[in-house]
Amino acid sequence: MSKKLWGGRFTKSAEEWVDEFGASISFDQELVLEDIDGSIAHVTMLGKCGIISELETDTIKEGLKTLKEKAKNGELEYSVKLEDIHLNLESQLTDIIGPVGGKLHTGRSRNDQVATDMHLYLRNQVNLIIELVVEMQEALLNQAKQHVETIMPGYTHLQRAQPISFAHHLMAYFWMLQRDKDRLTESLKRINISPLGAGALAGTTFPIDREYTAHLLGFEGIYENSLDAVSDRDFILEFMSSSSILMMHLSRLAEEIILWSSQEFRFIELDDSFSTGSSIMPQKKNPDMAELIRGKTGRVYGNLVGLLTVLKGLPLAYNKDMQEDKEGMFDTVKTLVGSLKIFAGMLNTMKVNKAQMESATKNDFSNATELADYLSGKGLPFREAHEIVGQLVLACVKKNCFLVDLTMEEFKEASHLFEDDIYKVLNPVTAVQRRNSAGGTGFEQIRKALEKAEMVLPQV
Ligand code: ARG
Repeated sequence: MSKKLWGGRFTKSAEEWVDEFGASISFDQELVLEDIDGSIAHVTMLGKCGIISELETDTIKEGLKTLKEKAKNGELEYSVKLEDIHLNLESQLTDIIGPVGGKLHTGRSRNDQVATDMHLYLRNQVNLIIELVVEMQEALLNQAKQHVETIMPGYTHLQRAQPISFAHHLMAYFWMLQRDKDRLTESLKRINISPLGAGALAGTTFPIDREYTAHLLGFEGIYENSLDAVSDRDFILEFMSSSSILMMHLSRLAEEIILWSSQEFRFIELDDSFSTGSSIMPQKKNPDMAELIRGKTGRVYGNLVGLLTVLKGLPLAYNKDMQEDKEGMFDTVKTLVGSLKIFAGMLNTMKVNKAQMESATKNDFSNATELADYLSGKGLPFREAHEIVGQLVLACVKKNCFLVDLTMEEFKEASHLFEDDIYKVLNPVTAVQRRNSAGGTGFEQIRKALEKAEMVLPQV
């Protein structure tokens, strides 16, 4: 069973450890179902074009269907001697149906075969990932809906800057994910084209019908150039780039979740089911899942840079280096799927410490911009207003108090434009509410944004 399928030209076989080094079966078995589907389409086309007989077509198809059943039940056994998933399956097919199995590879090469498998694989996975992005968006949206009027400090430089609504903060990530989803959806255009029929590199002498196999496999078109078809891996690179950006977004939110659940912030508490303890410190509740997502971002970037580097010096067409395209792709998919699922669960179950968030907006100077806006609203050039308020802040720092603690006389002394309503303006809730410009944190704007968000999600 494990005689080499390309053994004809060879007088001597490699030692087992050399075979092992060259083999990809340990990881490309992940493509088993895609490989069988590709073969079924190919053989159907061979029959339709009269390249093999109807009987042969039916026999091979039956054999492939048996293999598919076995694969689904985990009953297939693979041999390293047979190198990869393609040769393993062909060999098993022949074991089942006899030498006619050898006709399957007519007019085809492993080079267009493997490329086809990966296009099919990525199409499935990208669609799954898009669904998981939607689930995470829903989790963000659900939390946001409950926290429109929960106010918290907004930060720049990780210094309290201006008060914002917690919903607004969460929805920032919603829109990032929306763009991630758009990027992935857009990339499907380039994933969903068929390399099948490109042969080893130059096409084939058989009268095949590439459009037909493309159609059978649900592809939207075919590669125009056979060399390109077997050499292209930019559809994987594009996926890895979109994935890197997506992971970067997840990582930033993970970082905030980690900060927010620290004793220093205490803005949120993660559910026990998404936290872990310490083997030595009994009091610990660690945000491990968020940390892991932040950490795993590194491997997703690494996979992208790895494959870019593999490809950069390769002459056309296929080179064995390209076998290195798979593990990173599988790993990126697995990492994304895991991270998105965890994130949705973590967001859906976390508790928000409203009081703590709100109190963090009080004892600081994050309402200073309100004062400056107030003065410039009354006609003072903003620069002058900024200067006056800066001096008031400095006076407070010296007196060890905050802006709300200043007396009306002190305000008047700084500028005659200040009136009694200044204390209301300094209230952080008012500050949030008044930021009613498009896309701002004002409650009215957020409510509009939530409605829009609802509309961009798939309607059920
Ligand atoms: N296992 C190979 C890969 O993943 C399949 C293509 C092999 N083609 C070849 N000409 N050796 O790249």
